[in-house]
Amino acid sequence: MKKTTLLYEGKAKKIWNTTDENLLISEFKDDLTAFNGEMKSSEAGKGALNNKISTELFKLLNDNGIPTHFVDMLDDNNMLHKKCDVILIEVIVRNIATGSLTRNLGIEDGTVLPFTLVEFDYKNDKLGDPKLNDQHALILGLVDYQDELDKLRRMARQINDILKPYFFEKGLKLVDFKLEFGKDKDGNIILIDELSPDNCRFWDVQSGESMDKDRFRQNKGGLKVAYENILNRILN
Ligand code: TYD
Repeated sequence: MKKTTLLYEGKAKKIWNTTDENLLISEFKDDLTAFNGEMKSSEAGKGALNNKISTELFKLLNDNGIPTHFVDMLDDNNMLHKKCDVILIEVIVRNIATGSLTRNLGIEDGTVLPFTLVEFDYKNDKLGDPKLNDQHALILGLVDYQDELDKLRRMARQINDILKPYFFEKGLKLVDFKLEFGKDKDGNIILIDELSPDNCRFWDVQSGESMDKDRFRQNKGGLKVAYENILNRILN
């Protein structure tokens, strides 16, 4: 499969058209951004790590009955996947309170939530990705029916039910993560984007250390070592 024209360049990936009109290639970049692009840096090798981690997690989810856009990992930085209509909703799943949840609601950092929280943000950089309720999403036409919002929530919980115990066995707490969904050419809702320490928070069970992009957000250093550690735990 060959790249043709650049479809879109995002903060962490370039998306390429290919010689097959139903397939795209995501090229994972080494760039790092946080706080809606206000903080920027780059870490050599980060793109390849995220491509490999995402590949393994998409395969795990596919094997467990979750439809995803993943087709193949082509090389270190490039993933082949289905072309979808992107649903402009970021689905945030939280098991433990941290980040914006603690800032917005004053819940103490590290509090284990009484149940898994699923939230929707409007994927719109200009507006700073505001929180959405179901009525907002329907008024904006981000999906066609309430049923589709219910399906996003259901799929997000199913994904959490697969990933949370999977990582716990590997000595990691899956604190929270962000999912994106799209509709494939037959109109099916499938998981798209990436699943990596850029959009998931992992805390080491033993030490409590962050093993994800919070190391960058909080200027802690050791980002690449942490991402390599996540990949090694997935592969072992
Ligand atoms: P959140 O606590 O809302 O964001 P922050 O503290 O960075 O402001 O993030 C919850 C989880 O979702 C976390 O694992 C990071 C991920 N996330 C993204 O990947 N992209 C985003 O735009 C947002 C808001 C969150």
